[in-house]
Parts: sequence; structure tokens; C-alpha cells
Amino acid sequence: MATLALRNAEIVNEGRRFQADVLIRDGIIEHIGDLPAGLKANREIDLKGKLLLPGLIDDQVHFREPGLTHKATIASEARAAVAGGVTSFMEMPNTNPPATTIEELELKYARAAATSVANYSFFFGATNTNLDILKRVDATKVCGVKVFMGSSTGDMLVDHVATLEGIFQHSPTLIATHCEDTPMIKLAEAAAKAQWGEDVPAAEHGRIRSVEACYKSSSTAVELARRHGARLHVLHITTAKEIGLFSDAPLLGKRITAEACVHHLWFADDSYPKLGNKIKCNPAIKTKEDRAAIRDAVARGVIDVIATDHAPHTREEKNQPYVKAPSGLPLVQHPLLILLDLVAQGVFKIETVVQRACHAPAILFGVEKRGFIREGYYADLVVVDPQKPYTVTANNILYQCGWSPLEGHTFKNSIHQTFVNGVSVYENGKVNDASRGMRLTFNGNRR
Ligand code: DOR
Repeated sequence: MATLALRNAEIVNEGRRFQADVLIRDGIIEHIGDLPAGLKANREIDLKGKLLLPGLIDDQVHFREPGLTHKATIASEARAAVAGGVTSFMEMPNTNPPATTIEELELKYARAAATSVANYSFFFGATNTNLDILKRVDATKVCGVKVFMGSSTGDMLVDHVATLEGIFQHSPTLIATHCEDTPMIKLAEAAAKAQWGEDVPAAEHGRIRSVEACYKSSSTAVELARRHGARLHVLHITTAKEIGLFSDAPLLGKRITAEACVHHLWFADDSYPKLGNKIKCNPAIKTKEDRAAIRDAVARGVIDVIATDHAPHTREEKNQPYVKAPSGLPLVQHPLLILLDLVAQGVFKIETVVQRACHAPAILFGVEKRGFIREGYYADLVVVDPQKPYTVTANNILYQCGWSPLEGHTFKNSIHQTFVNGVSVYENGKVNDASRGMRLTFNGNRR
């Protein structure tokens, strides 16, 4: 049996920060605390001066496979994920073909089993016409059902009122929504094009994909969920106005939860002049006041989860004029470093970061035996070096698209090592390409 001893780590877990050793056997955490004198594990690692956190569970990524592999693959982006301390991901259905049948969905799982170094799950994609299939999704093996209530990359808009009613009434599992009102956005887009032609300034994006468009759609989703008693998770909240739709009740009993993404917590409208269409994304990055409100909602537990919405596009695609440049930016390699910089700025406590990025996705989706440093749980762990700053450069970006909106930024911390199921998958700046993650399983109590 393979054993691994992590010694003298400063653990941040379940609201506490404390010094302890961790013994891992066959990928499972066996003991947390002082290890018996004389114990010698197969591998011993001294983590003095380092922080040990549960690996992040990123509940919203786009890894582009199948069909969009000129942008990214499951293999390439899973490598970037583990280099950033993300040990499990939940991937979105807007691939080509989209994951809107059980067969297409299972093909993605098979591809991940063969190529992903991180643990994985894939959302089933709702359409205007596949409610009968959606009803058959297995809640113990699939993270949730994704509903584009606003259209974004890919053509997956669900806007038939009767279909939405049916989804909220019958979904066998958690419903995750992208909320933006498409008719309002189309009008604003047309007005912007009439004024500027193709070269609409990127800073207009937050006014085109407006606060009102977000609010209209997310308030509709919340109303549908309340009326049907559905389990709703509203993805990527970007506006102060939407925060009133959610509550700070204890996560375990909540029927309606919300997510914020690192780019909306990091960037604001003052970033558009420098980064332009690189930070064009849906929903849009909005004002500093909106950012302050979502930071505050995350701190108070009104927003439950932090994710990335990692959405890579090639440089060439992003370099086009506003009207043609696709929305989305690559982020999955840096969420923890972003959040730890925000901790250094006094925006969050580190315990809150661990709660929202590691524990909360596990609780909210009912992920089995992950998301916490607990005896009997899988050893999905990230080691942070708080003494070693890290600069994002062209050489250390692992995304297939090869760019990051954070290039040139120096973070205060670095990712020292990552373990997935007890296996060291990232160490000394290198990914262990021989290792494969596991399919996430769920307790199925999310309906
Ligand atoms: O900006 C975005 N990009 N938002 C989405 O909802 C989709 C994503 C993508 O797939 O590119």
C-alpha cells in the first residue's frame, strides 16, 4: 500500500488555520495530526513554511472538447488547472456537438477518463427541445443541468417559456443558469453597431450586456425556482442589483445559490482601456461599484461559490474587432493566486476563500469525499508557497491558447505542489502527465 506523509504543514480548512501532519494511504487521507513516532511513509515531504489547502473545485469551465479543439482540449486545460491548484472541474456543455444528449455527454466523460489529470464532471446542456432527455440525467454521476437563459458562446439559448417551466419543474438535479436577457442585449448591440460599426469600444460591453439584462434574467430564474421548489444555482453574478435576489442563510439548506467568478472579482471597467477585448466576456465585467458589491456578497456568504468560467479563445480570435471577438477569457491556472492576492489586499479572509472555492462547491453539488481536508476523503490538496512570488509569463502559461489576461502580473504567492487523489500531479513547475483524475460522484440529494 502506498503511503505519503506531509509534515509540518500550515493547514487552512473548515474555518481553521493550524499546524499538522497529514498521512495519505492509497490516495485517501488517513490521519490528520501528529503522526506516530517512527512512522516512515513511502514518500515524506516537509511542508514547513507552506500552506496546505483542499484542492479547488471549479464549478464552471469551458474546455472546448469535442469540436473546438483549436482553442483547447480537456487534456491541455486540465494540466493548467492542476498547476493552479484546481483538482476537480465541472465543464460546460457548449462544445461541438453540444452535450445535449446522454450519449454526447458520456463521450466527454470517456475523453476525460483517457486524458484529464484532474478530476472531472460535465454538465448536461438543456435546449428548447430536449426536456425528455434531461429528465433522465443521473444525479449521482452528473454535476447538473446547464441552462443558457441568455445566449453566449455556442447556440444554446433556452427561451421557450413552456420549456423553462418544464425544466424547473422536472430537473432531476441542480439547475445552473447563465442569466442575461438576450432581447435586451440584441437591442443594445444594434444601437452600438449603429454608432461605432464593428469597432465598438470594449468598454461598451458592460453597457451592452447591461445590469438590467442580467437582473431581468436572474430574477426570472429565481422566480421559476421558487414557484417550482427547484434547486437553482445562478452562475457568474456581476451586478450589485442581483445580490438582493440571494440570501446569507446556511449553505446546506439553501435551494437557491449563487456563484461569482474570479475575473469579476479582480477586474472592473477601468481594465478595459488596457485589456480591451481580452476581457470581453459574458456576463460582462462591470463597474467598480458592482465589483465591490459582489466582493462583499462573497465575504458575507450571500454568494456561495467562487469559480473561473475559464473560457479560452485563440489570440487571433480575440484580436478581432469587438463585434467579431468571442467572449471569454482563460483563467483556470490562476484562481487561487488571484484570491490570495485579494486576501493580501484585505478583501477576503483566507478561510473564506477556502470555504467558497473548495468546501462550498462540494457541499452545494453534493460531491462525495472531496473539497475538505478530512480523514476518509480523497487527498485532493494544494500546497502554496507564501514566500515565493510568481509572475505570469508566456513561458509558464499552460493553456493551449498560450495567453492570459494576467500576463506580466506578479502574484504574492505561488503554487508549490498539487495532489489529485494522493498523486503528486504538479511539482517543481511540471505536470505529471502520467496521472489521470477520477469522475466525480454525487450524493444525489440536489433535487
Ligand atoms: O464569456 C463567456 N464565454 N461566457 C459564456 O457564457 C461562455 C463562454 C465561452 O464558452 O466562451
